[in-house]
Amino acid sequence: MKRILLIVGGGIAAYKAAELIRLCRKAGIGVKCVLTEGGQHFVTPMTLAALSENQVYTTLWDLKDETEMGHIQLSREADLVVVAPATADLLAKMAAGIASDLATTLLLATDKPVLAAPAMNVRMWQHAATRRNVATLRGDGVTVLEPDEGPMACGEYGPGRMPEPPAILAAIQAALDSGSSASKRLTGKHILVTAGPTHEPIDPVRYIANRSSGRQGFAIAEALARLGARVTLVSGPVTLATPAGVTRIDIETAREMAEAVEAALPADAAVMVAAVADWRADTALQKIKKGDAPPSLQLSENPDILAQLAHGPRRPKLVVGFAAETERVIEHATAKRTRKGADWIVANDVSGDVMGGEANSIHLVTADGVEHWERLPKSEVARRLAERIADAL
Ligand code: CTP
Repeated sequence: MKRILLIVGGGIAAYKAAELIRLCRKAGIGVKCVLTEGGQHFVTPMTLAALSENQVYTTLWDLKDETEMGHIQLSREADLVVVAPATADLLAKMAAGIASDLATTLLLATDKPVLAAPAMNVRMWQHAATRRNVATLRGDGVTVLEPDEGPMACGEYGPGRMPEPPAILAAIQAALDSGSSASKRLTGKHILVTAGPTHEPIDPVRYIANRSSGRQGFAIAEALARLGARVTLVSGPVTLATPAGVTRIDIETAREMAEAVEAALPADAAVMVAAVADWRADTALQKIKKGDAPPSLQLSENPDILAQLAHGPRRPKLVVGFAAETERVIEHATAKRTRKGADWIVANDVSGDVMGGEANSIHLVTADGVEHWERLPKSEVARRLAERIADAL
């Protein structure tokens, strides 16, 4: 079993560490926790002990713990050290090599990879000192995740929120997997992934688009890269960080996406997750002014990128399409598989809160029939799908 040492710092996001422990345990990862003095103001050692099913360590100055195992040992017996939430204070101490309490002493003494999930006020995150500390840590080989952007507990808005536990779990799994060559099943394969929406301009300030956060496609690109594939990710406009080891090509319209996909061939597999706008409008060169009557749009059909690829001369060995449906999900997805010439269709019931959400409930439609997957975090859907793609290639 893989094991992590989880250092829980003193921020409001400490409550999310409890959920992170639960997800890690569910994924078969052993967890031992160190709770800083600040962290104890937000969660109790009891909470973390119950969830991790392990003793929780809070101080350097505990004679019993020290004689039993030696604190330095704690930082060596895990496969990975995870700091979540990583406060501005913890990042600063890590960058400077300060060892003033149990957590920072362990971080200085460890010989294992370190992953930090920052959480702080937006101004603290953007402060020159924090920018410098993060750059130093990354230069030292520490994986510092990008914080999420959104409303914060302090009432401000911006980047600084700790990434959600499923995203941290995915990063933990990536860090634990890297280096083990048996898990690099897709080494030498080139896989093309499309993700996000396309924007079809109406005039210089307006556009038509499908709803799509890009999260599922980005998670798939990340999971494929983790298995060693060379991944080209053609992405519409989204606000997501490029996963490690993935080559990203940003496009805006469906026609640009079609061109980028064509230019990225040949590929061993293609996973088309993008929510491509089916139509484009005739684009006005100047902003359309609000006149007496609303303008009518002249729409024309966009190329079907998936169908063109699947029926084209440079078809990848495995072509996977997605189908977002609100009703008669399996029926529509099965018809779509044949019509578009895809090998598999990953059918998505989007009648709930899938769009932009963290979890996804999917059905895998292949020539052999339909598999129903339980509701899973998008990162887990991605991981399983990547394993299936590795099986097929
Ligand atoms: N797709 C594509 N190019 C398009 C439209 C869709 O590559 N112009 C791909 C999507 O990336 C997805 C799959 O086709 O993998 C299914 O997309 P969907 O929008 O569900 O299918 P449509 O053909 O648009 O069917 P409908 O909107 O009628 O359900």
